[in-house]
Parts: sequence; C-alpha cells; structure tokens
Amino acid sequence: MSDYNPFSLVGKTILVTGASSGIGQATAVECSRLGAKLVVTGRNEERLVETLSRLDGDGHVSIAAELTDAEALKRLVDNCPSLDGLVLCAGRGMTLPFLFSSIDKFKTVFDVNFNSTVECFRMLAKAKKLGRGSSVVIIDSTGGTPNGRFSPGNCIYGASKAALWSIMKFAALELAPKGIRVNTVNPAMVETPLIKSVNITDEQKDLDRKRYPLGRYGRPEEVAYGIIYLLSDAAAWVTGQSLILDGGVTI
Ligand SMILES: NC(=O)c1ccc[n+]([C@@H]2O[C@H](COP(=O)([O-])OP(=O)(O)OC[C@H]3O[C@@H](n4cnc5c(N)ncnc54)[C@H](OP(=O)(O)O)[C@@H]3O)[C@@H](O)[C@H]2O)c1
Repeated sequence: MSDYNPFSLVGKTILVTGASSGIGQATAVECSRLGAKLVVTGRNEERLVETLSRLDGDGHVSIAAELTDAEALKRLVDNCPSLDGLVLCAGRGMTLPFLFSSIDKFKTVFDVNFNSTVECFRMLAKAKKLGRGSSVVIIDSTGGTPNGRFSPGNCIYGASKAALWSIMKFAALELAPKGIRVNTVNPAMVETPLIKSVNITDEQKDLDRKRYPLGRYGRPEEVAYGIIYLLSDAAAWVTGQSLILDGGVTI
C-alpha cells in the first residue's frame, strides 16, 4: 500500500489553544497521529500534561497561558516556534436570557471567545510566526453563522462567535496575499465539559439529541477531523469559509 495521504500533517508545526480539554485536546491528539508537531496551550497545567502524554511522536511542547492576560499571551507568542497551523479553540460558554445579558456579562465572554482569540492570532501573524502556506482554523459555532441554529439563552455566546465569523472573512481577505488561509469550523453541540455550562436539564439534553437527524451530539474527534482537513494541504485552495459540523441539525 502506498503512503499517499493528502491530509497528512507530516512536517507541520501546529499550535492548538484550548488543548487542555474537549475539542482542542482531541484536535491535538489527532494532529499528532497524522504526523504534526504540536504546541499545546491551555490554563490547567495538569490537563495539559495529560494532553502531551496522549500525543503520538516526540518534539511536542506545552506552554500554559491565561489568554486574557496580556503578559501571558505575549510570553506564549514569544516562545512559539514558526507555525504551519494555528487552531484557535479556547472558549467558554454562558447561558442567559437576553433581558439578563448585561454588558459586563458580554465583556466576560467576549474577553475569552473574541478578544484574546483575535489578539493571539494577530500577534502571531505580526511576529511572522505564521508563514506562507500556513492555515488558521477558528472554532466558531452553529450559533455564530447565518442560517445557523439559534437557541434561547445563547445570545452572548452566539454574538461572540458571530464576531469571530466576521473576523475570519476580513483576515482571510487581508492575509491571502501572504499565503495564509483562514477558515472557521462551526460545530453544533459536541460532548465536552463545555456543554455542562448550558443551563438545561439532562432530560432536555436527551430530547435535544433526538432532534439531530443523525440522532446524537458530536464527538470531539469528529470536529478534529474537519479541522485537520482545513490544516492540511488538501485544503490549499480553501480560505474564508465555514465548515458546518452539526449532525444535520441545521438542515
Ligand atoms: N462543545 C460544544 O458543544 C461546542 C460547540 C460549538 C463550538 N464549541 C467551541 O469549541 C471550543 C472548545 O470548546 P470545548 O467544548 O472543547 O470546551 P472545553 O472542553 O470546556 O475546553 C475549553 C478550552 O478552552 C480553554 N480556555 C478557556 N478559557 C481560557 C482562557 N481564558 N485562557 C486560556 N484558555 C482558556 C480551556 O482551558 P482550561 O481547561 O485549561 O482552563 C479549555 O482547554 C470553544 O471555542 C467552544 O466555544 C464548542
């Protein structure tokens, strides 16, 4: 059998934020299985060590950082090697009805989901850590895209993700001449610790799972496979796009 694989990540160095849990952790593990060298970051050092221990191959590094802390973000960027891929996965949820969504709540969520995500991307690009041919994948949400899935209580989270969708379009346009591609992956509900922050009961979640044409929420590695496509050279002509991964729920 030949070792032909257009989705291979051999020879690529990839930074994954939010790599201490859920989708980010699964992405780091699956990228390493396809040959990438990983730089993993998150806040919880113990869980980052666990991520490192699950990676295939050697030469991976972990740099713990609170991304809303400007000094920590600068340290991360300074210590980061040249990258072929950047997966911006760190994020948080918050469920509140619109009438209770005061501006301080927006600030708390936007600080993580939008401000620090965009600043991390901008600083890495400005420091020329993202070379020609590199790929940036922003983890968005079906709640952040036109024709997505909008559920009550999700306005702050959804707005932060809609803002990421917009930045993706502008960054893709402006960075294309530098050979940097920028896309989003937009999952619906995925079985990770984050969905515990969604204020609905387990029974309501079970009912919701049944509304998905494919009968269930996603698994973290199923999102990782979509991210890997966008990181790989198989997607060399893809920029400014959103890949919806949703078990059919937005049909
Ligand atoms: N699960 C879903 O249903 C779903 C659906 C659509 C989109 N998403 C998006 O997918 C991404 C990953 O979510 P997940 O479900 O995998 O959640 P998760 O398991 O809770 O993981 C969140 C990750 O983000 C990191 N993080 C959070 N705040 C941070 C901060 N201030 N500084 C640095 N790192 C921070 C966490 O680090 P520590 O744990 O080390 O603190 C953790 O690694 C998020 O952007 C989320 O919005 C998730």
